[in-house]
Amino acid sequence: MTFDRTIKIAPSILSADFACFGAECEAIESEGCDWVHVDVMDGHFVPNITFGPQMCKAIRPHIKTTMDVHLMISPVDSFIESFVDAGADIVTVHIEAGPHIHRTIQRIKSLGIKAGVALNPATPISHIEGLLDMVDLVCVMTVNPGFGGQKFISSQAEKISDLKKMIGDKEIHIEVDGGITPDTAPLVARAGADVLVAGSGVFNGGSVANSSVYGKNITMIRDAAIGAFT
Ligand code: DX5
Ligand code: ZN
Repeated sequence: MTFDRTIKIAPSILSADFACFGAECEAIESEGCDWVHVDVMDGHFVPNITFGPQMCKAIRPHIKTTMDVHLMISPVDSFIESFVDAGADIVTVHIEAGPHIHRTIQRIKSLGIKAGVALNPATPISHIEGLLDMVDLVCVMTVNPGFGGQKFISSQAEKISDLKKMIGDKEIHIEVDGGITPDTAPLVARAGADVLVAGSGVFNGGSVANSSVYGKNITMIRDAAIGAFT
């Protein structure tokens, strides 16, 4: 993976048809997505359960782009290796999942892949200052984690701008996750985000059999984000 700040659209398969993840991944990629975002939830750190490393391993052969794994689990350390073995290109963990985020990031990096840290809406960016020399991605949650289809929390746009200033010219992606639509994409892009996760914004209205809807949704979000700079 090379680094750049171009806008990347990362559909969250949380909003895909759970009966056919492999085909869904192929459909969003052939319709032009940049990364595939995989939301892992444990029913403990967040009030919802999705899937684990075996599912990630099963879909990996269906993903040609980047498998971006967002772990909403606690404790997390003992599971990292299994997600790396499953083929994750990036593993993102929550700073709130504790207790030793620096150790967790060290563990991800030691396994040779990219590491991300996610912040819940109530967590200030000052909490990650000590991690900026080790992470490859910061994920700003623009909803409280746990469910797709929630409303974008607009106060997070200012947080993204502050984060962008804090990151400066370091090669760290700013990812936003939650409530991204053609309406909210310009706000986060202008603030400095380059990876836009969108679940319902991409999958709603489409299906594997009707995947051109995914393509239209991806294009609308991307064009709205890029349009923020014109
Ligand atoms: C929330 C997940 C998100 C979510 C985004 O906990 O991390 O990735 O699926 O879904 P939308 O785009 O529908 O808000
Ligand atoms: Zn996510």
